[in-house]
Amino acid sequence: MTVRHLPSLEDVDWPVRTERLLLRPATVADLEVTWSRWRRRPDVAQWMTNPSRELGTYLDRLGAPEKLATVMAVEHDGHLVMDLHVRVLDSYAQTDVAEQARATRANLGWSMDPEVHGRGLATEALRAALGVCFDDLGLHRVEADCFADNTASWRLMERVGMTRESHQRGDALHAELGWVDRYAYAMLDSDWQAQRHA
Ligand SMILES: CC(C)(COP(=O)(O)OP(=O)(O)OC[C@H]1O[C@@H](n2cnc3c(N)ncnc32)[C@H](O)[C@@H]1OP(=O)(O)O)[C@@H](O)C(=O)NCCC(=O)NCCS
Repeated sequence: MTVRHLPSLEDVDWPVRTERLLLRPATVADLEVTWSRWRRRPDVAQWMTNPSRELGTYLDRLGAPEKLATVMAVEHDGHLVMDLHVRVLDSYAQTDVAEQARATRANLGWSMDPEVHGRGLATEALRAALGVCFDDLGLHRVEADCFADNTASWRLMERVGMTRESHQRGDALHAELGWVDRYAYAMLDSDWQAQRHA
């Protein structure tokens, strides 16, 4: 039996460049910058599912090689402005075809320096990440979710053409807001190809 190569960010021909951005694999030094510049800020941390109050906790969680390998650093004008997380996962499948469903979808996450909000840079970065997932890794489906109150994030997902597939009422517990609604968004490879050829 031929063993299928499972896609990972290591397969990508880095760096990936867009009109205004450069995307590359993140380093531990990048994690220190992202945490000190924006991830520790309450206005950013309020929307993260796993906010880290201390740098040490953040590095413990993401600094291990297998975790770091899922993080992309996004640079604008030579400065780190965003981190994008791409976790490649197996899809739901019957056991007969489970091997074919391995590493066919990704769950995405992101955070950006508020100093550069409002210029479309996150939109540009997320489009590039979708290109990595579909064109470079050959994934079938990309997903992301957010608290329904996180308007900036769901608007971002809509700008890049992801579809809101569910509005789950009161299924997410937020530390300050209590039980809140959650939105789940996704894009299929066929959506991505259709969008590119539209
Ligand atoms: C989610 C997040 C990255 C979105 O940032 P953002 O600045 O709103 O997104 P963009 O960089 O794409 O900018 C879009 C804005 O710039 C404007 N814009 C300007 N030029 C643009 C361009 N060339 N292309 C697209 N939008 C442009 C858009 O109109 C939009 O403004 P609006 O919100 O007033 O309509 C940011 O809010 C963030 O980091 N939040 C905290 C972390 C977080 O929520 N993470 C996700 C947890 S699920």
